[in-house]
Amino acid sequence: MARPTSVYICQSCGAQTRQFFGRCPSCGDWNSIIEQSFSSREQRLSPQKNSSELPSPRRSEEIASYIENKELKRLETGYKELDRVLGGGLVPGSLVLVGGNPGIGKSTLLLQAATSMAQKRSVLYVSAEESAQQVKLRWQRLHSTKSNLRLLAETDLDFILEEIEALKPSLAIIDSIQALHDANLSSTPGSVAQVRECSAILQRLAKKQGTALMLVGHVTKEGMLAGPKVLEHLVDAVLTFEGDRFASHRLLRAVKNRYGATHELGVFEMRGKGLFEITNPSEIFLSGESASGVATIVAYEGTRSFVVEMQGLVSATTYSSPRRTATGVGNNRLHQIIAVIEKHMSLGLSRYDCYLAVAGGLEVEEPAADLGIAAALVSSYKNLVIPSRTVLIGELGLGGQLRSVTQLEQRLQEATRLGFERAVIPKNSGLASCISKTSLKVLEASSITEALVMALDIDRELINS
Ligand code: TYD
Ligand code: MG
Repeated sequence: MARPTSVYICQSCGAQTRQFFGRCPSCGDWNSIIEQSFSSREQRLSPQKNSSELPSPRRSEEIASYIENKELKRLETGYKELDRVLGGGLVPGSLVLVGGNPGIGKSTLLLQAATSMAQKRSVLYVSAEESAQQVKLRWQRLHSTKSNLRLLAETDLDFILEEIEALKPSLAIIDSIQALHDANLSSTPGSVAQVRECSAILQRLAKKQGTALMLVGHVTKEGMLAGPKVLEHLVDAVLTFEGDRFASHRLLRAVKNRYGATHELGVFEMRGKGLFEITNPSEIFLSGESASGVATIVAYEGTRSFVVEMQGLVSATTYSSPRRTATGVGNNRLHQIIAVIEKHMSLGLSRYDCYLAVAGGLEVEEPAADLGIAAALVSSYKNLVIPSRTVLIGELGLGGQLRSVTQLEQRLQEATRLGFERAVIPKNSGLASCISKTSLKVLEASSITEALVMALDIDRELINS
């Protein structure tokens, strides 16, 4: 009789069975049993006794000197936007998951990065979804230069492991992890068991031989990465590639990074010849039009600030309860800001529908955008245009007060660089020296009403009427 190659383990109680059950016979939990293989690969990939990786517990001072000596050497991908999101480049032996909706450009991004890195190092691109012919066609479309990139169109895990072991590349790309298949498991490719097992085995090999590994993971219908987030805690970094399918720019973010800061944002544009880096993102988030309902803020993401436009529309409602819809800003934030406007500016917005959108499909989470959101809504409600070349920065307190924000100096510098003329900021932000240096006309306000009077450049009586 053939020996079973896998075991079924309950994720709730840890019980092991030799066959699959929908309900654990031990603890009674439903859908908690997951298949796991116990192949001979385990032994092959386990670290050797005399490996240089901390073999036994060490004293803390020993560890400190060990770490100092072993300074992280990061690999540059050739794309500054990608390197920045990774925290300064790829760390050898690290496992990076790149997630995103189908068709957003993950394969294009990784193929471009692989080609660029392959000019100096050995890089293996494993295409599990597309045939070698398809990848070659795409590659030819994107590049005219020669490169020694190795391409492998394969879905079988054993074959891929052998290839990575033989080639020992600096970077291996797996496109996508959901298409890989471990023959020791009976479940289908893309199932939780397969995704988890394949990634764990690949990770062990990558760490052992210092190969950086980038995995592509599709976002499932529920909006999660590679099934029920099975990979997120396993990998060293999770990058998401997002963007409006109908707009050409794409945003790359780190949602988890063991080797760098998260909240860093990389901006690309999809053109006829692949993805291009956008080093000055303010360009794409700014239309330069002046109309009622348009307010400009300076957002700060990661280590960079850039100017973004907010668009508000306030119109009399025909519904029994008015509509409040926001794109790029949380709906709860919109509700809160509308409540502050109603209470502290005495504007009756309860009979109006309020819509808000951030230009360019960007998500703005930071509170420094509050004043801009309020200004966009009030400007639309009053049908007044905020004079162009004005930026609004500030967090709104529930009492209608304007609070100071982080990185104000950098935000003002960015506005100055882009030729803005006026900035409305919170009072007492302790920036007297910086303000005197800038060519911006800086207006300091302590409340929402004061800030909007300044922004719209109108008399105070007009704002509350
Ligand atoms: P792709 O990288 O295949 O997406 P993913 O791997 O995330 O599923 O890219 C898909 C889209 O990108 C496709 O609809 C066509 C578009 N595209 C361009 O506009 N220009 C290009 O040069 C390339 C290669 C793709
Ligand atoms: Mg793809």
